[in-house]
Amino acid sequence: MSQADDIARFLRQKVELGEGSVVVEKASSEVVAQPKPRWMKDAPEIPGPGIRVEAPEPDMLAANPLQDMDLQRLTTEIASCTKCKLCNGRTNTVPGEGPLDAKLMVVGEAPGVNEDLQGRPFVGRAGKLLDDILAAIDLPRQSVYICNILKCRPDKNRNPEAAEIEACIPHLYRQIELVKPSVILAVGSVAAGALLGTRKSLGQLRNQIHEFRGTPLIVTYHPAALLRNPNWKKPTWDDVRIARQLVDRSS
Ligand code: URA
Ligand code: URA
Repeated sequence: MSQADDIARFLRQKVELGEGSVVVEKASSEVVAQPKPRWMKDAPEIPGPGIRVEAPEPDMLAANPLQDMDLQRLTTEIASCTKCKLCNGRTNTVPGEGPLDAKLMVVGEAPGVNEDLQGRPFVGRAGKLLDDILAAIDLPRQSVYICNILKCRPDKNRNPEAAEIEACIPHLYRQIELVKPSVILAVGSVAAGALLGTRKSLGQLRNQIHEFRGTPLIVTYHPAALLRNPNWKKPTWDDVRIARQLVDRSS
C-alpha cells in the first residue's frame, strides 16, 4: 500500500470523492466557520465548511547539505541546457525556487515574460494570486517549492510543444526526487497533463487525488485562468484545501 493509497483512504472518510463537488463532512472537529479569503472576494458566494489548518513548523533550514548541493548543481545544469530550441530566446532560465524541505511543490506550465526577465517562477500577476492562495492555506510562498514544467519561456506565451516538454521534464523529475515533497499541486492542464501523461481537461482531472510516483498529486486551475474566470476560484479553494489536508496528514 503506497503512501498515496493510505492518504486517499483517509481522505475518503472525510471527503466524498465523486462526480459532484468535493464534500467535506461537517462532523469533523477540524471544520470551523471560515471567512472567504481575500483573493476569493470576486468569486460567487457558495457556503461551505472551512477547514482549520495549523501553521507549518518554521523549518527553513536545508535538511541535508548534500541534497542542497545536488539541487544547486541541477540549477547550474538547467542554466546551460540546450536540449530544446527555447534556449535560443531566453533571457534567463527559470529553474524554480523554494526550501529543500518543502512539503508542497507547486508545478506550473512555463515562465512568462516577467519570469524570463527575473529568472524566478510566478512573479507576475498570476504569481501574486498564487502567493495569496498559498497564504490562505497557511503555506506561505517561502515554505513551498515552486517550479514549472518548462524552465525556459516559450515565445509569445504559446503553449509548450510536446518536444519541449519531453526535453525539459527530466529536470522536474530530478527536482521532485531531491525535494521529495509530500504533495504536488499541478496548476493548469499543461502541468497536470505532463505529469500524469494525459490529455484530459482540467475539469476531468481536478476533484481527485492522483499520484505521481507514489506522491499524492492534486490538480487545480492555473492562477492565470482564475484571473480570467473568477468562477473557478471556489473550486480552486476546495482543491487547495485538500492539498493542505494531505500535507498535514503526511507529517
Ligand atoms: N505561469 C506559469 O505557468 N509559470 C510561471 O512561472 C508564471 C506564469
Ligand atoms: N482550462 C485549462 O486548461 N486550464 C485551466 O487552468 C483552466 C481551464
